[in-house]
Amino acid sequence: MQPADPRPVRAGHALVTGGGRGMGVAIAAALARRGCSISLLGRTAATLGQTAQRLADEHGVPVHHALADIADEAAVAAAVAACRERLGPVSVLVNNAGIAPSAPFLASDTALWRRVLDVDLMGAVHATRAVLPDMLEAGRGRIVNIASTAALTGMAYVSAYCAAKHALLGFTRALAIEMVRKGITVNAICPGYADTDIVADAIANITAKTGRSREEALASLLAHNPQRRLVQPDEIGETVAWLCSDAAASVTGQGIVLAGGELMP
Ligand SMILES: NC(=O)c1ccc[n+]([C@@H]2O[C@H](COP(=O)([O-])OP(=O)(O)OC[C@H]3O[C@@H](n4cnc5c(N)ncnc54)[C@H](OP(=O)(O)O)[C@@H]3O)[C@@H](O)[C@H]2O)c1
Repeated sequence: MQPADPRPVRAGHALVTGGGRGMGVAIAAALARRGCSISLLGRTAATLGQTAQRLADEHGVPVHHALADIADEAAVAAAVAACRERLGPVSVLVNNAGIAPSAPFLASDTALWRRVLDVDLMGAVHATRAVLPDMLEAGRGRIVNIASTAALTGMAYVSAYCAAKHALLGFTRALAIEMVRKGITVNAICPGYADTDIVADAIANITAKTGRSREEALASLLAHNPQRRLVQPDEIGETVAWLCSDAAASVTGQGIVLAGGELMP
């Protein structure tokens, strides 16, 4: 019997966008624990440098970091080239960098829409375009897009974010089919509200605009989550690592929901 194709990616070079803080750190750590060398791509040198040092110290793997605004295609291409030069061809890409500004639709102007689409959708497109030749040449690769439950349902006050994340899931599914016989899997993870700065900012926004307490604001965000708790970044990191393992060789084109039962697509 032929072995499963696409061939699994074991410890290789994993590139995580937005890897300096939040979920990106937990994702990079989960991959470093499996022996991957890590590139962190982001726009804030101080956070990236500190995280890179900590990951290298804790996991004993090479960790490189490179600067780029993910919305800037040329900057992303140059940063990926620098990562490749340092740690070799990229075998795992995690498109994690993202923003989630909230405002009612009529207060969300075109500049806000363009920025969210440029970062949350086109950022993943730019990074994927930059690494895909490595994966095609190797005949193997893993791409994981960090989408959101907002990729699967509508949510008030984040119309641009919902549109970008729906599009990111559409891109995931289309590329998965295009890559299905080339040894490359493409999946998305759709977390519910998770314990990172994005949610801390959302809570601060709610308390400022409504006068509610922090606890009330958090409870309102978790009202639709049957587990009534924030998803922990490590849960997302471990799911990414599983998608990059032998066990997930047949999983492609999926949007895996981590949201305590909030959605059951
Ligand atoms: N937290 C949640 O509840 C939640 C739920 C579902 C999905 N998500 C998704 O999970 C991903 C990570 O979010 P998080 O919660 O970890 O948020 P976070 O703590 O705010 O971190 C966002 C990361 O993205 C980077 N980033 C933002 N804009 C960028 C740009 N233009 N170029 C390069 N890097 C950029 C940030 O870098 P800087 O340090 O330079 O700002 C940071 O590393 C996002 O795609 C988000 O949509 C989050």
